[in-house]
Amino acid sequence: MTHRLTVIGTGYLGATHAACMAELGYEVLGLDVDRTKIDRLSAGDLPFYEPELEPLLRRNLATGRLRFTTSFDEVAGFGDVHFLCVGTPQRAGEYAADLGYLDAAVDALAPRLRRPCLVVGKSTVPVGTARRLAGRLAELSPVGEDAELAWNPEFLREGFAVQDTLHPDRIVVGAPLGADRATKALREVYAPMTAAGTPFLVTDYATAELVKVSANAFLATKISFINAMAEVCEATGADVTKLSEALAHDDRIGGKFLGAGLGFGGGCLPKDIRAFMARAGELGVDQALSFLHEVDAINTRRRVRMVDLAREQLGGSFRGRTVGVLGAAFKPNSDDVRDSPALDVAAAIRTQGAHVTVYDPRALDNARRVHPDLAYGGSALDAARDAHAVLLLTEWPEFRDMDPDTLGSVVTERNIVDGRNALDPDRWRTAGWTYRALGRP
Ligand code: UDX
Repeated sequence: MTHRLTVIGTGYLGATHAACMAELGYEVLGLDVDRTKIDRLSAGDLPFYEPELEPLLRRNLATGRLRFTTSFDEVAGFGDVHFLCVGTPQRAGEYAADLGYLDAAVDALAPRLRRPCLVVGKSTVPVGTARRLAGRLAELSPVGEDAELAWNPEFLREGFAVQDTLHPDRIVVGAPLGADRATKALREVYAPMTAAGTPFLVTDYATAELVKVSANAFLATKISFINAMAEVCEATGADVTKLSEALAHDDRIGGKFLGAGLGFGGGCLPKDIRAFMARAGELGVDQALSFLHEVDAINTRRRVRMVDLAREQLGGSFRGRTVGVLGAAFKPNSDDVRDSPALDVAAAIRTQGAHVTVYDPRALDNARRVHPDLAYGGSALDAARDAHAVLLLTEWPEFRDMDPDTLGSVVTERNIVDGRNALDPDRWRTAGWTYRALGRP
């Protein structure tokens, strides 16, 4: 098998995977049904912000190793290995994942497959999806079971997508027992990574699917755990940042994902834990995941608490007050505003009568699309101008490093609420600010 790879779906995951595979030396053809996206990618113009990805995209377009198309015929004719990277969003009004894009991709690809090949699912899916799709693939493809399916979940984080794709913690491949051709082909594709020491784990389909959702469930639980501790800290005068620092010294616990604050958002953790709960319900094991309802509830409560804290800071009402909001992206180093805690809080405060101006280094365009009702500034100082309170809601480095006096020179009142525990309270208090934070005295 030569390794001509295709990547179906060129959103966040697919565009990154395509460019990284081309970087490893493969010939890669990316497909999307969205013509605008394909035109932009073909021109080396990334439709979203991701550090390191655009140069990689441009370099590999220039060598000709990486191309993009909207044609399933071209993809089917070209690829030995087809990666499915389409989105699996939360269904409107439900917890369950919407598998419409995935089903559509398999239905479009399968009938066009005229030689043995491997189809590799990377999207995050409810457990049981791979087995169903394998059946559908064999049924619809002219080569029958010679079009094999493997499941190979992706663990990349936004903001670190290139690094996470080229240097993953582990590679997980789910395939039926005896599907040696599939696992051998993926071992070859990922040889540059395994040669560098990345573990390569072969499992059945269901385990591979579960590794992804359970990893995200664990990470979400860790964040909500420390945020629950933050609630207790607030009731007792304890400091959650010191608490998590002390917990982190126990290497059974570890320090990562113990950052208390506004909680998690984005296109993955919130919808993945909800889809996981929905699937557990279908499987009759909803009790096993009932704790995830609490994880979700703790997370949502953080946003409410942030609004309450800001209101307290303003003397009990937002009416007629000016609030500067720093951050719109769901986390730093991203322009993604999906389920963004920052934007949620900004919108709630505006609804309660404040005049809100938001600034974010990268996410303003996306924020404007989702919340045209909010006002936006071109810099942190712009957003904070004349404010009675400033809220730090996404911990971009430029906000962490802000000079309290410079910011203080444009505000009406030196009030700051640190929603991410990103600032040094002493430094801000010394500069005359009233500093409040989630989970800190
Ligand atoms: C996540 C997983 O990390 C990744 O493995 C998976 O493939 C996709 O989902 P991502 O959504 O890009 O990645 O962001 P991540 O860095 O995990 O952060 C998720 C959210 O948790 C952000 O809103 C972040 O602000 C928040 N977070 C993270 C905390 O509130 N505290 C922490 O300590 C860490």
